Amino acid sequence: MTDEPQPIRWPAEAIWQAVEPSLPGFTVEVLPEIDSTNSELMRRFRGSLAIPSQADPVLLVAERQTAGRGRLGRNWQSSPGGSLTFSLGLALEPVDWSGLSLVVGISLAESLDPLAGTIGLKWPNDVWLRSGHKGEPERKLAGILVETANRGDQRYVVIGIGINIAPLELDFEAHANALTAVVPPGCVQDLAPEQDAPSTLLKVLPQLIQDLQGFAQFGFSPFQARFARRDVLSGRTVQVLRGADTVAGEACGVNEAGALLVHTPAGMNEITSSEVSIRPLSVDGAEARVAPHSGARPC
Ligand code: BTN
Repeated sequence: MTDEPQPIRWPAEAIWQAVEPSLPGFTVEVLPEIDSTNSELMRRFRGSLAIPSQADPVLLVAERQTAGRGRLGRNWQSSPGGSLTFSLGLALEPVDWSGLSLVVGISLAESLDPLAGTIGLKWPNDVWLRSGHKGEPERKLAGILVETANRGDQRYVVIGIGINIAPLELDFEAHANALTAVVPPGCVQDLAPEQDAPSTLLKVLPQLIQDLQGFAQFGFSPFQARFARRDVLSGRTVQVLRGADTVAGEACGVNEAGALLVHTPAGMNEITSSEVSIRPLSVDGAEARVAPHSGARPC
């Protein structure tokens, strides 16, 4: 007897019912396989440019991505059932676009962990499992890739989300010669073993739409305190890498536009570009703190 994989039962109807009243024209589509849900929605939008109709909001879920994309040109690996991969495409007209990707992270974190006990956010939008009490390190739980395209005055946004659901089976033989310990990524089942990809989608999607609509109306400032509750970088020494440029300093939270504040000996820097990579620095496994600098006031 062979162990045939069971078909995944997606709650498409329940999601549609929860979302459509506040997002008219919304549709849900599930594909067994695609290169990347973000690439597919961007292709569809560009292909529809000649048609002067509104781009209807769509949720595209893929059970398998053959060329999933991450931030900064990286790949995004996932496995059917072991990960949840989807993109939401919609036209948005926010008062100000700054902070959009942070809002997505805040929304996911709050849906998965309302009490802010276990899920943190690493600017701009990585969702992390906080370090455990047994000394486990922080581990990435989900990633977000936001892309936009224009049609006249209209701006279409594709919000791609990848969430690890089940523990990744690491190939320990392949890592046998690694110099540092290989840490598997975090997953939803570390927090809630009964959750699977469909139930996680139902848990996060309606709230995400509400938060996006709140952002479109009021901008990032109402989300600033919500980010601060989960900010895993705050007070830590970070290294900001932008191309060949590197700045190190103490992370001091985000401002009302969602820019990361990094205090360096030369003063406070506001980091706005998402094309940067932020690394928390640690020394001997302990948190590194910025050395006090004469005349420079920390956060
Ligand atoms: C990151 O952390 O680098 C962002 C990862 C984003 C991955 C998701 S999975 C669904 C959507 N389709 C993609 O190709 N990427 C995003």
